[in-house]
Parts: sequence; structure tokens; C-alpha cells
Amino acid sequence: MKEEINRDEVRTLYDKLGGNTAIRAVVNEFYDRMINDPVVSSVFDGVDLVSLRKHQAQFLAYALGGPVKYDGSTLRESHTGLNITDRQYEATIRHLNATLRKLNVELEDRAKIEAFIRSVKPFIINQ
Ligand code: HEM
Repeated sequence: MKEEINRDEVRTLYDKLGGNTAIRAVVNEFYDRMINDPVVSSVFDGVDLVSLRKHQAQFLAYALGGPVKYDGSTLRESHTGLNITDRQYEATIRHLNATLRKLNVELEDRAKIEAFIRSVKPFIINQ
């Protein structure tokens, strides 16, 4: 990560939620919500579904402070040319929150995750 981002606040949540099995359940739920929402699914037009699922896993691992494998590109670089809007970002946050709520992640942890995700918003929207 080349951006100056503080991930310490969320770093333990990935482990706390129960590692791989739990994360997979979160990914499946989040993915279903995203592909069924025309506000955000259009961003993934022309992106294959394997790639989308991989993205959801990376997004969540990142959000939860887990290990994320980067091939050197920054969040800004990864999203350049996608023109992700404020509305689409907010919709994604709503899907994330709904997913975490459904999987019984407590409010305090959901708030931390949301705050963290908001902190990287400038790198992702309107690029
Ligand atoms: C904290 C928020 C986010 C993180 C950490 C994140 C992470 C990433 C990463 C790591 C990649 C590169 C994937 C790769 O090279 O294989 C990527 C690509 C991408 N992201 Fe995100 N993302 C975020 C938010 C979003 C949002 C809100 C959207 C749209 C609603 C979005 C749509 C995409 C798309 C369409 C790609 C290209 C996928 C592809 O061509 O394979 N991202 N993202």
C-alpha cells in the first residue's frame, strides 16, 4: 500500500470474526447483494464474475484488517477509470453493513469497519 492508511484499528477484526470460514460466508452474502443492486452492479459490467468475487474477498479482507495481497498497485490506481460515484460507494457501504449485521458482527465493530472504509473513500471515488 503506497497510501498512508492506518489499519491498526481494524487489524484484529479479521481474526475475531473467525478467519477463513467466516470470511467466506461474508463474501458470499456481500457478493449476492452487490450483483443484485443495479446501482453498483453496473460498475462490474464487462468484469467477469470470478474477478468480481475476488474483488469482494479483497475488499472485505481489507475492510476487516486481514491480510490482503497487493501486486503493487494502490487503491487509487486499481480504481482509476472506473468513475465510481459517491452514490455507488455509499451503496457498497450499506451492503457491507447489512452483511455484517446479518452475520452478527456487533455494532461497535461495524462502526469501526465503516469508519475505516470511509477513510479510503477519496482514493476510490471519482477516479
Ligand atoms: C475500501 C474499498 C475498496 C477496496 C479495498 C477495493 C479493492 C480493490 C482491489 C485490491 C482491486 C484490484 C483487484 C485486482 O487487481 O485484481 C479493485 C478493483 C476493482 N474495484 Fe475495488 N475496492 C474498493 C471499493 C470498490 C467499490 C466501492 C467499487 C464499486 C462499487 C469497486 C469496484 C472495483 C472494480 C470494478 C475493480 C476492477 C475489477 C477487475 O477488473 O477485476 N471497488 N478493488
